[in-house]
Amino acid sequence: MTLCITNARYLGALVDVFVKGGLIENMIQAGHHKADAGTEVFDAQGQVLFPSFIDCHVHLREPGYEYKEDVASGLQAAVHGGFGAVMCMANTKPVNDCAAVTEYILQAARKAFPQGGPHVYPVGAATVGLLGQEMAPLAELAQAGCVAISNDGHSMENSELMRRVMEYAADLKRIVIDHCEDASLARGTHMNEGITSGMIGVKGQPDVGEALHVARDILLADYLDLPVHIAHVSCKRAVDLIRWGKARGVKVTAETCPHYLLLDDSALENYGTNAKVNPPLRTPADVAALREAVKDGTIDIFVTDHAPHAAHEKECPLDEAPNGFTGLDLALSLTYTLVREGFLQEADLERLWSRKPAEIFDLPVNMFAPGDPANFFLFDPEARWLVSPETIYSKSCNTPYAGQELRGRVSAHWLEGKRIF
Ligand code: DOR
Ligand code: ZN
Repeated sequence: MTLCITNARYLGALVDVFVKGGLIENMIQAGHHKADAGTEVFDAQGQVLFPSFIDCHVHLREPGYEYKEDVASGLQAAVHGGFGAVMCMANTKPVNDCAAVTEYILQAARKAFPQGGPHVYPVGAATVGLLGQEMAPLAELAQAGCVAISNDGHSMENSELMRRVMEYAADLKRIVIDHCEDASLARGTHMNEGITSGMIGVKGQPDVGEALHVARDILLADYLDLPVHIAHVSCKRAVDLIRWGKARGVKVTAETCPHYLLLDDSALENYGTNAKVNPPLRTPADVAALREAVKDGTIDIFVTDHAPHAAHEKECPLDEAPNGFTGLDLALSLTYTLVREGFLQEADLERLWSRKPAEIFDLPVNMFAPGDPANFFLFDPEARWLVSPETIYSKSCNTPYAGQELRGRVSAHWLEGKRIF
């Protein structure tokens, strides 16, 4: 089967993409070569072309919390959001701290797309049960297919254990992703500590708790000369430390999420529990610092931290609601607003959502070179859509954007040359 996508806009230029046997044959200036008879032609009509993105931080909830999301629904949300691969965190039930759970997740992904679909790369727990007491069997997890190691959802309070996990993971050529938070400073908190938390009378989490662990991790990475990856960076203090670490030559990499670039803690006043996430939305000054960090490369990649929760779990007082936003369906529409603002370019989105993630976690990446897998999607920047349970593919619609109109949506997605939707 051969396929030709015509008139697609790639990094500003109009191109035709020729696909053969699931691989890129060629990408050329639009209109310069006529497709052979028998080739399926798809006219992109000037829509934006991107290589399939990689989301290195999602919660697929299966096994154990299928009422929030399962592997199949999470992957539907992924492909409709432009993602051809996701890395899923270990806070399932049971926790992904042994080969059996890793294999279960991989099998669920194969079942969801028997003809071939998005890649699922499990992330193994750093400690047994995510309890922070005893190291998980990292070699077994790596062998079973875990591409990274993380206690995400929980902080690593024990620095000695963090050190051992970094050392063992490095031997297995796996990077540790750290959820940075000081448990004693975060206990009993439901939002950022600041003017808004004071005004609405909610116990807040100071950003120094995040920064303390970022500093500890950078110092450990420096001392051990080993890599560490900082999850969901939300504040200026963390950014400043990462910038310092990088300047010093420490092997530290970092991610942030669309919401930390677009929202601040005042969102809690309007959206209540749907704006509750961990780390919490911070202040406008933090948002500005994060944007600067994305621009200068201090932040290496974007991730969604897709954290679906059922509607009934968020319909409660703020202090009882779980943390997290659904993200896969919305991520590209949200981050494309940064392009529309002139703050980023399409090439930056490709770097932040695809090339850098692949580089950091040593995953395959599609560069539209001849022979690359034909994994790409079209994005209609002008499409308008209402965020609601009916329009998104995730089982959960827990986002401050619920009920709002967003601009721009993925309109078609091909994986290995096959149209997935
Ligand atoms: O908001 C969050 N939700 N932050 C986390 O670290 C965990 C996640 C979840 O699993 O719901
Ligand atoms: Zn986390």
